[in-house]
This record gives sequence, structure tokens and C-alpha cells, in this order.
Amino acid sequence: MHTRGVELPLPRRARPLLFDALPGLEANTPWRVLVHGPTGVERIDRTVSGLEGVEAWMKRDDLASPIYGGNKVRRYEFLLASAEARGCRRLVTAGGVASTQAMATALFGRALGFAVRMVLFDQPITRFAKQALLIDADAGAELIAGGNHLTTALRMVSALVRDRKDGNFLILPGAANPVANLGYVDAMLELAQQVEAGLLPRPDLIVLPTGSSGTLAALSLGAAWLGWDTEVVGVRITPWIATNRLTIGQIVRATDRHLHARDPARWRPQAGRVRWSLEPRALGPGYGHPTAEARAAIEEVRALTGAPGEVTYSAKALVGLRLVAAEPRHRGKTILLWNTLSTMRPEPGPTARSKVPPLLQWVLDAPEVA
Ligand SMILES: Cc1ncc(COP(=O)(O)O)c(C=O)c1O
Repeated sequence: MHTRGVELPLPRRARPLLFDALPGLEANTPWRVLVHGPTGVERIDRTVSGLEGVEAWMKRDDLASPIYGGNKVRRYEFLLASAEARGCRRLVTAGGVASTQAMATALFGRALGFAVRMVLFDQPITRFAKQALLIDADAGAELIAGGNHLTTALRMVSALVRDRKDGNFLILPGAANPVANLGYVDAMLELAQQVEAGLLPRPDLIVLPTGSSGTLAALSLGAAWLGWDTEVVGVRITPWIATNRLTIGQIVRATDRHLHARDPARWRPQAGRVRWSLEPRALGPGYGHPTAEARAAIEEVRALTGAPGEVTYSAKALVGLRLVAAEPRHRGKTILLWNTLSTMRPEPGPTARSKVPPLLQWVLDAPEVA
């Protein structure tokens, strides 16, 4: 199928499971297929050390698309469709220079025919960060150096008001809003089908890296709606100021209200029934900081997925998974690692470097911390 942008290798999935479960949602919810699903499930406790006391599985959202996988793809099926339905022609976002959301916006934005503008703030420079920046540039995104968090916020405002006539659509870091979160309520229904088909046991715990918390909130709402007592454990990848009980509670309630308002008969309020917790011990000094444990886990991620991990998301998730599995109260439990970092990434072309603006060239020359 040809889209407004480039040709997409179009997945076969005709509609999200959520539309069958909640017909009231479909009428006013734009959706564009991006995910090649269902994503696989695999047993991993014999591949990773430190999981001896539990039965561990992995959900391979890292392979959610051959363009670029990870936990933005399901979210963008709803979010980018909603931008399109509003007539917006440009996506405007912000993130660290290694931001996976920035990469997903550059790649899927281009695939669906949007212009993409992004403000990128400083963070520890890793090999992954350099590659991410080159991918953003090569995908034709307009890149703006953000500097620190405050200057990034100011530049973001100016990025948003410039060329407003084109219809600028704002995607905040993490995009933890109810529309994007529908992607992971839907993902929970996909997992339930796989459990029903006998592909894996119903997990007692789901572990995933957590930042803006939309994915955690949506999975826990989905589990509650299914009537599962599964606890969703977010391995914190951002400091408490960004990821805490207050922010998560607010995202859970907003997403719950969104679903209830659209199909009140089938989606009864679930916010009081969600089961989630945070695992803070893998974070270290902060977002993107390469802790010794995370560095050591980079190669173990390769053994699991076929591609090396990196210290911000996947390696810390593995460290967190081990910490959760080691708790005596979790002995014998079934734990599902929801793999949220893409294993697929486009190779930046030979001219990518020349597309990085002068104020961001320093990133490509900086020493790598991991
Ligand atoms: C690979 C990866 N895992 C997990 C997360 C965290 O997801 P959320 O922001 O929904 O908490 C992100 C967010 O950027 C991510 O890129």
C-alpha cells in the first residue's frame, strides 16, 4: 500500500483488538497500522543468568516493525493517526540526543508523510546516541540543539509556534497521553490471546523500563480490565521527579477516563484496580548514566535479542529484571520482560553526518561513555 509518504512494508493486521473489545472506541478513534504483530513470546530464563528461581519470558516488541521496533510503534498507531485526522502536517517533539521517541518520530513520521521537527537535549554520549542522531538526520528530520532542560523547553515553544499554518502537532517526551496509551492497552489484549493459545503462562509480573510511564500505565490498566492480578513493574530509567506515584496515578486515571468515556458499557473504571510498582535500583545517578551493572548487561542483551543493548533502556531493564527475580517473595513466579527497545534500526547513509546541524556536530565527536 502507498501512504502519503514513502512505501511502507504494510503489516497484515486489519484492526486493533481493542476495537473488537470496545466497539464504542472505534467510532471516534483514528488508527493507522504500523505494528507487525502479534510480536513473539520466548522463554528466557536459561539464556540470562540470575533468573534461576523464576520462569522468565520475553515479549518481543523490539521486533514490532522492520523499520524500527520498540514501544513507540504501538503508541504511534493511534497518535500519528490522530495527528493526521486533525489535518496536521508536521510533528514537533523533544528528547535527549539518544531519544528513541525522536528516532521513532523521524522514521514513522516520514513514512506517513509528515514533516518532523525535534529539539534534542544534552545527555551522556554513547555509541547508541551518535547512531540515533545520525538516523534522525538521515530520515530528514529538522534537528534543533536543545542544550539543557530549560533551554530545550524554550526552544520547544519556539519550534511549535514557527510555521503554525502547516499544522504543528506536539508530541511531548514520552507521549504518555491517553491516545498513545491505547496502543499498550491493546498490547495487553494481544498478550491475553497468546496466553489463551497456550504460548506462555499468564505472567505474575511484567517488567519493563519506565520513563514517562505511559506504557506501564496502559499495561496495568489492560491487565486490570482482563481481570488479571498481574503486577506491572517499571524499572525506573528516569529520576523520581519524572517517574513517581503521582505522575503515574494521573496517567492511569486520564487513560481510564478516556476509555470509559468512549465505551462506558464495556470499559468500567479500572483505575482503582491497577497493580503496578517501581523498581528504582537499576537507575544509578540518572537518565542515560552508564552504571557498572548496565554496562555489563549490554552484551547479555545481545544474547537475548541478537542486537547489543544500551545503557539507558534495555541494559537497565535486564538489571531490573534480575533484581525483581532475586526477591524471595517472587520465587517460583512467572515473569515477563516486555522488551521495549528496538532491535531493528536503519543504517545511516554515508551523507548522514552532513545532515546534522553545526550546533549538534559535537555529539558525533564526543568521547563515548558506553
Ligand atoms: C526503549 C524504551 N523503553 C522504555 C521506555 C519508557 O517508556 P515510557 O516512556 O512509556 O515509560 C522508553 C521511552 O522512551 C524507551 O524508549
